[in-house]
Amino acid sequence: MLSHEDYSRRVNELNRHAQRYYRDNHSVISDSEYDQRYHQLVQFESNNPLLVHPNSPTQRIGEPPLDQFDPFTHRTVLPSLNNVFNQDDLIAFCDRVYKGLNTQDIAFCIEPKVDGLAVALHYQKGILVAGSTRGDGTVGELITANLKTIRSLPLSLPEPIDLEVRGEVYMSKSQFATLSDQFANPRNAAAGSMRQLDSRIAAQRRLDIMVYQGILPGYSCHSEIMARLNELGFPINPGLVVTPSVSELYSHAKVIESTRWDYQYDIDGAVIKVDPLDYQDQLGMTIKSPRWATAYKFAAEEGITRLDSISVQVGRTGVLTPVAKLTPLLLSGVTITHATLHNMDEILRLDIQVGDDVVVVRSGDVIPKVIRRAKRHPHSVQFIIPSYCPICETSVCHDANEVAYRCPNTQCPARIKGQIAHFASRKAMNIDGLGKEMVASLVDSGLVKKVPDLYTLSVNQLLPLDGVAQKSADSLIAAIQDSHTQSLPHLLFGLGMAFVGIHSATVLAHRYLSLSGLLSATHDDLIAIEGIGPKIADAVISYLEDPSFIADIHTLQSLGVNPTVTPVITNGPLNGQTFLITGSLSHYKRSEAEDLIKQQGGKVVSSVSKTLSYLIVGTNPGSKLTKAEKLNTKELYITILDEDTFRQLLN
Ligand code: IVH
Repeated sequence: MLSHEDYSRRVNELNRHAQRYYRDNHSVISDSEYDQRYHQLVQFESNNPLLVHPNSPTQRIGEPPLDQFDPFTHRTVLPSLNNVFNQDDLIAFCDRVYKGLNTQDIAFCIEPKVDGLAVALHYQKGILVAGSTRGDGTVGELITANLKTIRSLPLSLPEPIDLEVRGEVYMSKSQFATLSDQFANPRNAAAGSMRQLDSRIAAQRRLDIMVYQGILPGYSCHSEIMARLNELGFPINPGLVVTPSVSELYSHAKVIESTRWDYQYDIDGAVIKVDPLDYQDQLGMTIKSPRWATAYKFAAEEGITRLDSISVQVGRTGVLTPVAKLTPLLLSGVTITHATLHNMDEILRLDIQVGDDVVVVRSGDVIPKVIRRAKRHPHSVQFIIPSYCPICETSVCHDANEVAYRCPNTQCPARIKGQIAHFASRKAMNIDGLGKEMVASLVDSGLVKKVPDLYTLSVNQLLPLDGVAQKSADSLIAAIQDSHTQSLPHLLFGLGMAFVGIHSATVLAHRYLSLSGLLSATHDDLIAIEGIGPKIADAVISYLEDPSFIADIHTLQSLGVNPTVTPVITNGPLNGQTFLITGSLSHYKRSEAEDLIKQQGGKVVSSVSKTLSYLIVGTNPGSKLTKAEKLNTKELYITILDEDTFRQLLN
């Protein structure tokens, strides 16, 4: 058994080995030696639980799951960065900096941009006490237990200082390769792992971190802070370059770009920052991003491969989309097997045939795309647009004014699956666990024939489905029930009306306030709404004339999926004013008058007080008038209006 002194030494020793291994990629002891020494540490700690050091490697294994993450308010906003894409953009960025500072004598730093998840870490007296995701930049999620599992992150520092550092959590390419197909790319894998409520799972995912910003007093420039952070044990970007020369910045960006695949992790650009901190302060921020930094984004990567076949997918509105099946091609570190061809016209425009060699591009998250033909082969064959829906075999329609070919059958299983998947998607009803595969089994098994059927599903109906265990059935039903509280904009978007995106859905929700309100919409009042053009108005009206759409809405309402919007008007003429009505009005019902006040930005309150702006007095007023008059004898607080003056005010 180790003595306490041996224990402290052992903690430091193992941390040094881990740092060499995880941060510097260089190990000096074998795995089995490490494991043996680690085991002795565990033994000591289980006998002396009060002596466990916060920096012990055993503290990285994760803790029991949380119910949810707590919100974490950042001390200062975690901004995102503006992008530049070429030399001209970069020169323009530097010119803006020169202009803002009234000098051209400025050092810039450039470093690789790691593609992962932004986090902020707080150390107090040298101990890691809190770590959070970026979230919306102002409030993130407190994921300290998950962050502690990252082996390259120091849990305690060699000095008892207070410090905030920011960096990018990432998954190395080699680690990603071991997670067969669970995530689309290493960034999603890193983000998905950091957002695990069970930190023991995060621990298994073997994530890494690269620190790119430190907030600590006594330093005059970014590059000095990075050197200091490295000294404190943080992994920092290798190859940070400092230069006052714009042409050197650009050539270094190109060097980083040309070596991007040599990194052990994904990088998607280079970050350029003004080095002196007082200059950073002088330049400040726009609403979204600092004026003193920018991201140079790499161009999309192209590659050539064979177009093996073209299949046709049927979407939720019946549109047929051709999809290219390709001979697998490694592009931007990812194997590409399919690419979108958008529509039938695109195939004609690109003049591509099955069997051709084609050029494919992929940039970041964007779905790979065929952009041109590289070579025609003698055996290439022209693709023929199908005359029948490949799913339900209904004759395909093609309106001469439209590019799209459509399956007109509203009961086509592919369309129904698409509608349900859209309804469940994140920007719509956000039903976790209702992905494409689950939707397919629900529709294929006949359990769900249309969207409202989701709300009558039970756990027992799900259990016989392939691959559905008790736990996933329970959580799917719970997620469906939770979606009752989703707001009206999300529901309207989820209904999947053609051309109604989340933005127009929000506009419609605020105009009509409920499903019933929308059902009463007319073409005239739709086109009168700012932000709703004739195309959307036509589309919405055609849904409102479709009896099955109306029936679905009524069913949703009867199943309790019936959110409403309370209008908040922030720029009306009555903004900031409060109103109270007493007695009965002759021109309006009480509720109508109150609605008119709200529509103009006013607020209706329920009692008389000094803060009331207007009391509207109808016939037979109650004690509210007496109370207001009494208050007004001391000082004039409340404006008392009769109905006619009130009507003038509204107009
Ligand atoms: S600096 C105020 N440096 O890229 C400066 N960001 O697209 C904040 N990122 O939110 C960012 N590597 O999550 C900076 N070397 C680097 C970076 C980096 C990756 C991420 C970061 C940021 C995002 C902006």
